[in-house]
This record gives sequence, C-alpha cells and structure tokens, in this order.
Amino acid sequence: MNITMIGAGYVGLVSGVCFADFGFDVTCVDTNASKIAALNAGRMPIYEPGLAEIVAKNVKTGRLTFTSDLARAVKAADAIFVAVGTPTRRGDGHADLSYVHAVAREIAPLIDSYKVVIIKSTVPVGTGDAVHDIIAKTTPLALFSVVSNPEFLREGAAIDDFKRPDRVVIGANDDRAREVMARLYRPLTLNQAPMHYTDRRTSELIKYAANAFLATKITFINEMADLCERTGANVQELARGIGFDNRIGAKFLHAGPGYGGSCFPKDTLALIKTAQDFGAPTRIVETVAAVNDQRKRAMGRKVVTACGGSVRDKTIAILGLTFKPNTDDMRDAPSIAIIQSLQDMGAAIRVFDPVGMDSAREVLVDVTYAADPYACLAGADAMVLVTEWDMLRGLDLNRVKAALKEPVVVDLRNVYRPEEMKRVGLHYVSIGR
Ligand code: NAD
Ligand code: UGA
Repeated sequence: MNITMIGAGYVGLVSGVCFADFGFDVTCVDTNASKIAALNAGRMPIYEPGLAEIVAKNVKTGRLTFTSDLARAVKAADAIFVAVGTPTRRGDGHADLSYVHAVAREIAPLIDSYKVVIIKSTVPVGTGDAVHDIIAKTTPLALFSVVSNPEFLREGAAIDDFKRPDRVVIGANDDRAREVMARLYRPLTLNQAPMHYTDRRTSELIKYAANAFLATKITFINEMADLCERTGANVQELARGIGFDNRIGAKFLHAGPGYGGSCFPKDTLALIKTAQDFGAPTRIVETVAAVNDQRKRAMGRKVVTACGGSVRDKTIAILGLTFKPNTDDMRDAPSIAIIQSLQDMGAAIRVFDPVGMDSAREVLVDVTYAADPYACLAGADAMVLVTEWDMLRGLDLNRVKAALKEPVVVDLRNVYRPEEMKRVGLHYVSIGR
C-alpha cells in the first residue's frame, strides 16, 4: 500500500518514517522547500531522539521519499494522511484550519481512483465533514473516504509512542475506509496495540478531550503544589500518595512551571471555543487554561521572592528553554513568559539550552546566549532551572555555587534534593516542597 503524508513536521515526519519502517512505501510532501531539501540531504529539520537513524535506514531501502510534488504523490497513493499544522487562529482562540482546508482543495482535483484521506492533524469536531464536502464539491465523481485518526505521540519520545501506542483511535464512517485503516495499522495490532474504532466526529473530539484531561491533571497537581508550599507539605510525596490509586494513576503528576508546548495550550483553547459555540461550555477547561497562563508569570514572581524582593539590575541565569526536554520545540514554552516577566521587572537574562538555542533565538530577544551551563551561571545573581534536561540534572553543585555571584537556585522542576542543596550552601527554592 502506498502512503502519502502531507506535512513533514513533528507528526508527519515521525508517522511517515514509522509507517515506512513497518514496510509501507511512504512519500512525505511538504510545501516548505528547504525542509524537503534538508531531508533529501539527510539533515533532520527537527530534533527528535532516534529520528535521524530511522529516517536514514528507510531512505536507504527506498521505502521513504521526500518531495514537494504533491500531484505525483497523491496520484500514487492509496492512503493520504493530512498532518499539517492547526495553530491557534489569531484573535479568537479557535483552531486555524486554513492549512487543512488548503490541502483538501489541493488534493481534490488529483483524486482519480479510490483514496482514503486520513486527518492526523488535531482538528475540531466537524472538520472531517468539511474536508469531505470540499473534495466532493471540487471533484463530484471522486471515490474517497475521509477518516479521523488523531495522533497521541509526545515530542521527545515520538518514535516509541508511535510504535507502541496506548491506543490507536480511528473515526471512520464506512467499512471500506475501516478496512484500509486496519491494513495500515496491522503491524501495531500484531503487537496488541488497542484499536478503538468509532465514528469520525467522536474521534475528532477524543483527541481534544485527551489533551484537555492531561492539561487538567497537570494543573491540578500544580495547584496542590501551591497548597503544599503554604502548608509545609511535599507535593512529590502527595503525587505518589494519590498516584498509587489506579483510578488516578501516577503519570502527569509532576508539578512545574505550567504546561507549555505546541499542543496543550492551543488545544485547550480550541476545545473551549468549540464547546462555547455548541452551547456546552467546558468550564473546567476554561479554568485550567486561565490558571496555567497565570502560573507561568507567577513563576517570575517566585524568582523575585527568592532573590530577596527585586531582580532590578540583577542577572538571572535561565537553564533550559524548550517546553520540555528532548525537543528543540519552543512553541508556548513556559520559559518565554517567565523570561518576559523577569525582564519586565528589570532583570538582565542569560540563557542556556542543550538543544533549543537556535529555535530560542527566533522568539527570545534581548537575552544573552551562553555556550554551556557554567558560563550561563558565571557572576549571575540566581540560577533558574526551567526545563529538566538530563545534562542539567547532574550539574556539579560546588561548581554551581562557585560560579554564581549570589547562591540562589530556583528549581521549577524539582530535580535537585533540598538537603543536598543546603549542604552545598545554596539558597534553594523548588515547587511544592
Ligand atoms: P509542524 O508545524 O511541525 O508541521 C506541519 C508541516 O506542515 C510544516 O512542515 C508545514 O510546512 C507543512 N504544511 C503546511 N501546509 C502544507 C500543505 N498545504 N502541503 C504540504 N505541507 C504543508 O506541526 P506538527 O507539530 O507536526 O503538528 C501537526 C498537527 O499534528 C497539528 O494539528 C498538531 O496539533 C498535531 N499533533 C502534534 C503533535 C506534536 O507533538 N507536535 C502531537 C500530536 C498531534
Ligand atoms: C502532549 C501529549 O502528551 C501527547 O499525547 C499529544 O499527542 C501531544 O501533546 C499533542 O497533541 O501534540 P507533548 O506536548 O509533546 O505531548 O508533551 P507532554 O509530555 O505532554 O508535555 C506537555 C507539557 O506539560 C510540557 O510543558 C511538560 O513540561 C508539562 N508537564 C507534563 C508537566 O508540567 N507535568 C507533567 O507531569 C507532565
């Protein structure tokens, strides 16, 4: 079976290469010519552990190719995945569907035999219907089905998540499409991955419900962390204490500076808008989004308090910039809001990230970029750990103390042990402990 993957970003590229690894012939199409040129030259446009190796392996076998020639790729395809971006639409918080609709208009005239158009992008309920209508109106005789197949992979663990998913969700309204989907995911069913077949609209909503639920879980533990700080309790112990209960589960209970990334912030907003439009507001999710937004800036105030009440004319060293470790993605990273709030209060900012410095340069201005963590700390009035990269977990604490002008460490990910920090003589502030 021939697969065409439209959009070679985090999701399209990872899904495309994994399908090729399962033995399918996959063509990845992207309008970004420099991305396609980089991929054809063996360079990865994103940082994702293990990606370069698995791409190289599948390009070598001839099963994976990259092109900007949409017409050829669509004509050859049995299954066409749509994995383009659905960012927040400017002004109102809805998902911007212009890229998805553009793809529907572009592929419609190219459909000359039965194709399954599979929407992998995260899209509001009803988008599959709209895509179906666009294609049917443009090419009335086209034989095709539109399927929803949301993706649940996480950046930084994307290949493993794709190949060993907790479940695959397929929203199809006809048997012919379901049969094609079953063939596509057969390698995963052989590995016992649960397949959840449902209708298209439910499938579209499952994706938003899943992300909103996870965002809620994180926000809940973050508020518990605040309460722990006020009451002298320990949020890590609390998380373990509730996480042993299988009905709650131990995952996604790490308190931190607020969730960020390319998905939770935009998907919670889009769900809120959809729910309001349909007259069934999701007040819990509305609160989660608002609390999370406030939290990021509150982290700036936490740093100010740790610094004795003011950061004016002080240098703050920020370690870790990406929204989580093992990615170079800066979209909606908490570091951005934290740095802005510290700059607003008069601080000079020096930063370091093991992988995300290039992407950071596109969004963070007026900061100084340091070549390594210790250079970042040299002479600074405080160190703030924002992203829990492994290489930052193992810093030499004596060197940290020697490098800093003032021995202040604010750990927004709880990676260090309070007793150890005290022993070294660092004034240490963490989250909910
Ligand atoms: P991305 O921005 O990394 O990639 C999108 C790609 O689509 C870009 O390379 C862009 O050039 C390309 N594109 C846009 N219009 C095109 C067109 N008409 N033809 C061909 N290519 C086109 O986005 P992403 O992070 O991969 O996310 C894609 C979708 O998947 C979003 O809806 C997102 O919410 C969802 N999603 C993302 C993740 C994640 O971890 N990033 C996980 C699950 C779901
Ligand atoms: C998230 C979901 O986990 C994926 O299932 C989903 O496919 C994806 O969004 C998407 O729709 O794009 P991702 O954004 O890559 O994946 O990363 P997560 O590991 O979920 O982390 C998101 C944010 O929450 C990060 O800022 C992270 O630091 C924060 N987080 C996560 C916490 O603060 N505490 C936790 O316990 C877990």
